[in-house]
Amino acid sequence: MLNFAIETAREAGQILLEKFGRKIDVFKKGEINLVTEADLASEKLIIERIKSYYPKHSILAEESGDAVLINGENRWKWIIDPLDGTTNYAHGYPCFCVTIALEHKDEIVIGVTFDPTRDELFSAEKRNGASLNNKPIRVSETENLSDSLIVTGFPYDFANRSNFAENFTEMLLKSRGVRRDGSAAIDMAYVACGRFDGFWEEGLNPWDVAAGVLIIEEAGGQVSYYDGSKFSIYAPPICASNSLIQREMLGILN
Ligand code: IPD
Ligand code: CA
Ligand code: CA
Repeated sequence: MLNFAIETAREAGQILLEKFGRKIDVFKKGEINLVTEADLASEKLIIERIKSYYPKHSILAEESGDAVLINGENRWKWIIDPLDGTTNYAHGYPCFCVTIALEHKDEIVIGVTFDPTRDELFSAEKRNGASLNNKPIRVSETENLSDSLIVTGFPYDFANRSNFAENFTEMLLKSRGVRRDGSAAIDMAYVACGRFDGFWEEGLNPWDVAAGVLIIEEAGGQVSYYDGSKFSIYAPPICASNSLIQREMLGILN
């Protein structure tokens, strides 16, 4: 199933790459929340592949929602974001990916995030480690927030989140820098391979984080809520790191 997820993410990524930079249809789901014909084409391919290889599995996909939660058999559930980073994509900014996870009995067992512009495929299998293009990856060894490069994202409804600006300012003052790249799945993959030391964000959805949580944990990192308790993909906010700076990050967020 890991190979299936990898092949599927690569095929969907190819669709994104082919349409990238061309004039394509862009629709508004909200004031600043977009969906493009590339999101829809990628999701269609992924769902068709799952239905053909694993017809009894359930699917939770961003653009189709519960509509394809087929068969009601929830022991195996594919959780899909066919294009994470849609705003970047629509503006021709090359930072986006396909991200796919497989949940089995409430546990994420496979996670794959594919960035087609850099040909970087991050993957993890429960208890089997994480890798980037088949080479094992580990989180960074940075011990202090002051030496850390942190990444975050701005929720589409950030105007309604009063503590967002405070958290952002404090994290900026206490770290080496804060980045905002527009794809939560890539942000998390970069924590897993040590390019970033930590990540936090609120207002995300299960498909944004499902693969990333497993990839970070299998790379030796830690994921939790802002109060340090056990994280569920169904109810972000999320704080994730190399584990060494988790406590310092939570001190700011909590
Ligand atoms: C978005 C990206 C972004 C995050 C947003 C997400 P989308 O996903 O992951 O980094 O800040 O909250 O919704 O809409 O591009 O799939
Ligand atoms: Ca997303
Ligand atoms: Ca998306």
